[in-house]
Amino acid sequence: MAKERVQLGNTALMVSPVCFGCWQMGQTFWGTVPEEDLVAAVHKALDVGINFFDNADAYGDGLAEEILGRALKGISREKFVVATKACHHWLPERNNQRVPDLSYDYLVWECEQSLRRLGLETIDLYQAHAFEVFTHPEETARAFEVLKQQGKIRYAGCSNYNVEQLRAALRFGRMDTVQPRYNLLCREAEDELFPFCMAEGIGVLAFSTLQYGLLTGKFQGDETFDDLRKTHPMFQGEEFKKNVSRINRLRPIAEANGMTVTQQVIAATLAHPAVTCALVGVKSPKNIEEAAGAMGKSVSRWDYYQIRKALTSDVWP
Ligand SMILES: NC(=O)c1ccc[n+]([C@@H]2O[C@H](COP(=O)([O-])OP(=O)(O)OC[C@H]3O[C@@H](n4cnc5c(N)ncnc54)[C@H](OP(=O)(O)O)[C@@H]3O)[C@@H](O)[C@H]2O)c1
Repeated sequence: MAKERVQLGNTALMVSPVCFGCWQMGQTFWGTVPEEDLVAAVHKALDVGINFFDNADAYGDGLAEEILGRALKGISREKFVVATKACHHWLPERNNQRVPDLSYDYLVWECEQSLRRLGLETIDLYQAHAFEVFTHPEETARAFEVLKQQGKIRYAGCSNYNVEQLRAALRFGRMDTVQPRYNLLCREAEDELFPFCMAEGIGVLAFSTLQYGLLTGKFQGDETFDDLRKTHPMFQGEEFKKNVSRINRLRPIAEANGMTVTQQVIAATLAHPAVTCALVGVKSPKNIEEAAGAMGKSVSRWDYYQIRKALTSDVWP
């Protein structure tokens, strides 16, 4: 399979536009997934041209980083790019309760823990998981700078920052990427964050591309869940049914383009000029193989606007 690569913002990192999301390796919010399936999915990803993995210390309190580390063990370093995050400082002495923390001391210490769990000498992209109000952005920037000088990280980015928070961070250091929630049903990032990122050359990693699986088109609208979807408003009652019927409108468009609904959704997400990568949460080799099939697929202007209309309009066609 052809290896499609995009430049991550202004960095020297060349990554696959589909990024393997590792939240599901944490074995918490998404139920338990056998480790062998996750390891097989990582190997399948590399086979089908995906070289970019997004993790976080918070996913299973380090478990997701450990599993990714085991999966990547023995694979030559230039074959993959690893991003991880820090902020949710969990406290063993308080029953692993978390407190937001982007302080210098915590980041420098926690980066070392992530490196150990991942089995790596360098993290390619180290992200602040969320803006943290108790720490001045100058202190966070200093931690990133020191970690770069020590060779422990290559680049720094952030996640869940709005434009003003990003602007404040940029005042004190480099931020090469931002990671917002963005998918065809949740498009708030388009209003201010995306234009800002395009103007500044900041790479955008869109998370929840499939809106927790809803945008795969696999649901009927009457399913029940025992994971984080159990209480999510988009998966309840009439709202769930309405979402499913709108997503079903994409099927003929996807089929006419030789794609599954999942692939059409990923391709249309990547078609926004601000989006560098679409992050897809993976539980199995099949998940990532299907997602990889969206790479290199163009989306026509007509289809792009039809897809947006299909997902938002009450009147159709
Ligand atoms: N920075 C942040 O705060 C933040 C927040 C959220 C996510 N993220 C990152 O973004 C990644 C992706 O987002 P996400 O995990 O929220 O959700 P997502 O990608 O929108 O949805 C993932 C879920 O969709 C289902 N799925 C995936 N591929 C599929 C396929 N080909 N066919 C059918 N079902 C499929 C799987 O669940 P089922 O099989 O159970 O349906 C999977 O758990 C995460 O893993 C993480 O790396 C970051």
